[in-house]
Amino acid sequence: MAPIAEEASLEAQAKRRKKLAKQMGKNALMKLRRTEDVHAIRELLCKSQLVVEYCLQELPAKEVQPLRDWCRMAHNRIKDLEGSIRVFIRIRSWNQRENDLVSSKASMKGTKECVAVTDDRMGLELTDKTPKKITVNFDTIMAPGTQEEMWAEVKPLVGQIFDGYNVAMLTFGHSGTGKTYTMYGTPENPGIMTRAAKEVMGMRLLLQDKCKSKVTVSIVELHDGQFYDLALATSMKDKPKISGGPKKNASGETVLNGCVDIPVKTEQQLLALVTNAEAKRRTAPTALCPCSSRSHTFMTVKIVLQNRETKRKVHGKITLADLAGQERVKDSMVDGQDLKECGSR
Ligand SMILES: Nc1ncnc2c1ncn2[C@@H]1O[C@H](COP(=O)(O)OP(=O)(O)O)[C@@H](O)[C@H]1O
Ligand SMILES: [Mg+2]
Repeated sequence: MAPIAEEASLEAQAKRRKKLAKQMGKNALMKLRRTEDVHAIRELLCKSQLVVEYCLQELPAKEVQPLRDWCRMAHNRIKDLEGSIRVFIRIRSWNQRENDLVSSKASMKGTKECVAVTDDRMGLELTDKTPKKITVNFDTIMAPGTQEEMWAEVKPLVGQIFDGYNVAMLTFGHSGTGKTYTMYGTPENPGIMTRAAKEVMGMRLLLQDKCKSKVTVSIVELHDGQFYDLALATSMKDKPKISGGPKKNASGETVLNGCVDIPVKTEQQLLALVTNAEAKRRTAPTALCPCSSRSHTFMTVKIVLQNRETKRKVHGKITLADLAGQERVKDSMVDGQDLKECGSR
């Protein structure tokens, strides 16, 4: 039986090698044409990504790497052509509290969803503005989509730091709308921060034959006008204060004066820092959310890659921010310290 299985595997590998070469050929043609057509590049990128998945079933990752590199470059080209700021919308379904409000409060009776998403998932129709329908356009709308789908939208942006880009993502919106869920998620449904940490460390491993690399991380909380080092926090009450504010360093980069960049070597180390930071962040129950974030957090992962042959260095950086909610105090019903910190946002 063994020789037959071996033969089948060799045949499967040969099939994939042929497909890989064919796709690389098509991509090379596109490069020659130097097209500025986003749709054409995107179409080729989608096909190439499928070929990558298909080839990885039988071929070693190293063999598929040139096509992966092409995908990354195509993605960067699309981003350059599309513009560098992108706005995604995520609409969550009503939660228990909101359902209860609609069914119990007389003034809320008959309340309906007031937005609809267009089929291309780029237009948000404000349906309560009838008869004049208003459509607002965004880069992508998830309603609400799964954590995996959300991640698929932003994953290529994380890969861009390996090409020397600086990437920043932040969640913004009313309290209780799902910002922290999207960024941190839960252990069963991890959010962007956890997945980005895994992606960075995974890509670093893939490139290690070609490049030496150094990864550092800082996780900072901004609460009531004061910065704290969440990566070094030992409890919610015991967080080192960061004495300075933002300033430009010698290479023109904006840094937080006094903030420590911690070197990390493994995925586990980085994930442990993310989990620790999430647990030590300030939260408080409000009428809108039982575990409302009362502060902003910023996780910054920096990578320096050095090509072992050419010695060329690439510096990339990603900042992921989970902002405290914008809220109407009348709705969140906060008071005391929680009310004071609302004013400092
Ligand atoms: N897409 C979603 N799917 C499931 N639960 C969600 C989703 N978005 C938000 N939630 C839940 O709603 C509550 C409030 O979300 P949270 O992320 O804390 O809001 P925010 O950070 O915007 O104040 C949390 O219990 C969270 O688990
Ligand atoms: Mg939050």
